[in-house]
Amino acid sequence: MEAKRFILASFLCLLISVSTAEDPYRFFNWRVTYGNIWPMGVKQQGILINGQFPGPQVEAVTNDNLIINVYNGLSEPFLISWNGLLQRKNSWEDGVAGTNCPIPPRRNFTYILQVKDQIGSYFYFPSLAFHKAAGGFGGIRILSRPRIPVPFPPPAGDFTLLVGDWYKANHNSLKWMLDNGKNLPSPDGLLMNGRGWNGNTFTVEQGKTYRFRISNVGLMNCINIRFQGHIMKLVEVEGSHTVQTSYAALDICLGQTYSVLVMANQPPRDYYIVASTRFSRPTLTTTSILHYKNSWSKPIGAPPGGPTIQVAWGLNQARSIRWNLTASGPRPNPQGSYHYGMIKPVRTIRLANSAPIINGKQRYAVNSVSFVQADTPLKLADYFKIQGVFSLGSIPDNPTFGGGYLGTPVMAANFRDYVEIIFENYEDSVQSWHIDGYSFWVVGMDGGQWRSSSRNSYNLRDAVSRCTVQVYPKSWTAIYMPLDNVGMWNIRSENWARQYLGQQFYLRVFSPANSLRDEYPIPKNALLCGRASGRRTRPL
Ligand SMILES: *[C@@H]1O[C@H](CO)[C@@H](O)[C@H](O)[C@H]1NC(C)=O
Ligand SMILES: *[C@@H]1O[C@H](CO)[C@@H](O)[C@H](O)[C@H]1NC(C)=O
Repeated sequence: MEAKRFILASFLCLLISVSTAEDPYRFFNWRVTYGNIWPMGVKQQGILINGQFPGPQVEAVTNDNLIINVYNGLSEPFLISWNGLLQRKNSWEDGVAGTNCPIPPRRNFTYILQVKDQIGSYFYFPSLAFHKAAGGFGGIRILSRPRIPVPFPPPAGDFTLLVGDWYKANHNSLKWMLDNGKNLPSPDGLLMNGRGWNGNTFTVEQGKTYRFRISNVGLMNCINIRFQGHIMKLVEVEGSHTVQTSYAALDICLGQTYSVLVMANQPPRDYYIVASTRFSRPTLTTTSILHYKNSWSKPIGAPPGGPTIQVAWGLNQARSIRWNLTASGPRPNPQGSYHYGMIKPVRTIRLANSAPIINGKQRYAVNSVSFVQADTPLKLADYFKIQGVFSLGSIPDNPTFGGGYLGTPVMAANFRDYVEIIFENYEDSVQSWHIDGYSFWVVGMDGGQWRSSSRNSYNLRDAVSRCTVQVYPKSWTAIYMPLDNVGMWNIRSENWARQYLGQQFYLRVFSPANSLRDEYPIPKNALLCGRASGRRTRPL
């Protein structure tokens, strides 16, 4: 036992240079393989983690260290990324193409993460190629530390519901279509926890209350979710405890996660849990079953319908989601020593999505730049000072409304600046934007074009802090974000074809102090590739 502990301790010392020894460690060994799955009744090649589709759930407590060894059993390079984990001072472990070298086939890489000062519901996903269309994703829940209460009584059950649209086609054929400038067809359907129509049963007892952590892990569509005959009480959005508002139907756009409480207060029988797509033609729908224990009656009637193309409905709902200012967070005072609405941003960044044709192929862009990956991860090029991989300022702070062009855009930003970002959507489709390494306050959202006078409508009191936000068709969304996390951080569309075809860039948050207080050193086990191959991660 002692010897084992010693070996473990030496292994950790080897890997972890900056660690907080008092926080517990959790170890995960993941084997990523291809395997047959039949989510829509036809056999297809899925990406499994330890044989599972979706992958295993990560459970942790605030401030835990997560040591996740990922063995790549695929025949192609692979990476996993973490949707919503803040990874303070640590973009080294973000697992996207701009920060990490891919794990080569038949090799492994150990991610060293700490879920510092976070409580809530998130998910992980495969970030390279079009792997996400084959699986490889799973839920992450970070529980509160003992004695730090959450603002609702412990539920009788805590369920994860990963919802998303799905193709019967192999992820490589989808990728081939995109590589060849073709648009993807409409997905074939929706899955819940990797299963199709009525594929899941959630058993509840009458009179008890259950938590559902619902993430949209899909590729193309914003979804709306309903519990037949029941009300959802929203309690958490990507790590923020919300004012507990009740909803009969809830929009969950790509990459977003919501926790709702559902009280089993109806006559005992089966009820539909319905998910359907928003702003899509045709509307895709799927269901699971909410089953009352000791009841034998099937659901009555059809699954309840929901909103389809209504923009105002979504805007109103999004604006009704607010932060519970008195609820405790991961720390006793989640608002910290300042209030977000009292600070004036020093910089406004306006980002417009577009869908240009470049060199005869469909691409997607932000402020006209369509991202193409460099030969070396940007974070490594930055660290080793390799010239010519990217240049700072290669994406403008404002929309150009010009035609699109290819590039490797990296936006420069100063550590500790407080910024306002406006996502402007001039297209007819709903957008979803995610920022790695950060939570931000969603201060405003409306239809039409953003103007400086739109600031008068901002919620500077109790906006929710989250990491993924939707922008409804021909609408805008404004966020405030304190740049408190040094690193190279991916800002991307969560629409996976758009992300794959260039609707993403990196924000390089830089501190001239170059201090370990601001950013962790490069991990000793960092994989090196491209022009960083053969470099040393430590001086001799
Ligand atoms: C992971 O890779 C390292 C070297 O790259 C190797 O020493 C180790 O045995 C591998 N571990 C597993 C579990 O495959
Ligand atoms: C906010 O949180 C407090 C503290 O846990 C709780 O008592 C209260 O009911 C919550 N308020 C709302 C409106 O959800």
